[in-house]
Amino acid sequence: MQICVIGAGYVGLVTAACFAETGNKVYCVDVVQKKIDALREGKIPIFEPGLDKLVHRNREAGRLEFTTDLSEAMDGAQVVFVGVGTPPRSDGGADLSALDAVAEQVAQRVKQHTVLVLKSTVPVGTNRRTARIVEKAPFPIDVVSNPEFLKEGDAVNDFLRPDRIVVGVREGQEHARSIMARLYHPFSLNQDRIIWMEPESAEITKYVSNTMLAMRISFMNEVASLCERVGANVDDVRQGVGRDPRIGPKFLYAGPGYGGSCFPKDVTALVHTARDAGVELELAQATHQVNMRQKGTLGRKVRKRFEGDLRGKCVAILGIAFKPRTDDIRESPALTLIDGLISEGASVRIHDPEAMDNARSHYGDRVYYAKDSYDAADGADALVLVTEWRQYQNPDFGDLRTKLRRPLIIDGRNIWSKYGLEEQGFEYEGIGTRH
Ligand SMILES: NC(=O)c1ccc[n+]([C@@H]2O[C@H](COP(=O)([O-])OP(=O)(O)OC[C@H]3O[C@@H](n4cnc5c(N)ncnc54)[C@H](O)[C@@H]3O)[C@@H](O)[C@H]2O)c1
Repeated sequence: MQICVIGAGYVGLVTAACFAETGNKVYCVDVVQKKIDALREGKIPIFEPGLDKLVHRNREAGRLEFTTDLSEAMDGAQVVFVGVGTPPRSDGGADLSALDAVAEQVAQRVKQHTVLVLKSTVPVGTNRRTARIVEKAPFPIDVVSNPEFLKEGDAVNDFLRPDRIVVGVREGQEHARSIMARLYHPFSLNQDRIIWMEPESAEITKYVSNTMLAMRISFMNEVASLCERVGANVDDVRQGVGRDPRIGPKFLYAGPGYGGSCFPKDVTALVHTARDAGVELELAQATHQVNMRQKGTLGRKVRKRFEGDLRGKCVAILGIAFKPRTDDIRESPALTLIDGLISEGASVRIHDPEAMDNARSHYGDRVYYAKDSYDAADGADALVLVTEWRQYQNPDFGDLRTKLRRPLIIDGRNIWSKYGLEEQGFEYEGIGTRH
């Protein structure tokens, strides 16, 4: 089948590459010329494990093309996927301007009955609103809601081996239904993974999934604060709780607060949508508030160690991406920490295995970019671990100890909690443990 994918970001690029991998001819289109030029030269503009190989293989096979020309990308396509950004507005709602613009452009260019698939995360009602935008098109356009559940860092695997594929189609949209079934068949060979529903339910499903996961994190972060006060250990509590199969072990890790381009905006967008419908989602609101507070926790821990005065202090920070295996720094708790430290007069030395370019575009010359964790620690008064990249798990602590001016370690993910760092001469503090 010939497919057009609009948006070459984390979702669009993975979608395009994975559909090409199953034999479709895919045109992926983006408005950013630099991105398309890079992709044409074989450079992948984001770090996502496995994506480069997939893109190269399908480019070589002639199944994957990149362009900025939507007319070219849509020519012959029976189905158009939209993966453009839906960032938060200042009132917490989702900004749908990119999506609306795309819908208008698609409507102007259709040359056949087309299925327009909304993959971006969009509030309930967007399917209907998009259908209104495209209703005057010269050929019928069926608008389908197909929210994406991939995780950055494991996106290719998630797409190729999904645990579920949510497709919102209206009754009577048999053409759209058969196209979607055909496209996703290769990803559900041993078990049918498609869950069919009305578009409104599909739209809400995506927000509820993310909010539920965010809620678990925020709850454990609250529990961590309690543990610190009463001398308990949140990691022991996590294990004790997570072994209950009704609860399960995932998303129970206390830390510096959740970030990324999805959880923060999706939680507030769900609250916003519900409020418009006259419903107060109090748990979702609390999830957001707890997270905002939690994002300040590492800064508070550092500040306390220096009796509130950070002027002239130097802090090393390991991990800038909002989680390991991605270069995405959007809403990362590391940014909250760095901003706070700089504003209070500290200097900052940062390291991340993949996110240094994004950090450089964000901070320019306001921080020092270290070549590794030891370089970051060199001459620093404290070392703070924010993102638990695998390469940070087992450092040479003797080396770190000699590099640090003050052997203070704040471990935002508790990855070093079992290493007896206090016995090795460090001042050590994690999250949700007594100190
Ligand atoms: N990143 C994730 O892990 C993830 C997971 C699931 C769902 N989502 C959702 O998917 C959507 C996209 O997220 P993302 O992280 O891929 O965003 P992104 O910012 O990485 O990518 C969006 C891309 O769309 C392009 N774009 C914007 N307007 C365009 C237009 N008119 N024509 C063509 N291209 C255009 C941008 O240049 C950009 O490259 C969002 O709604 C997000 O909430 C993201």
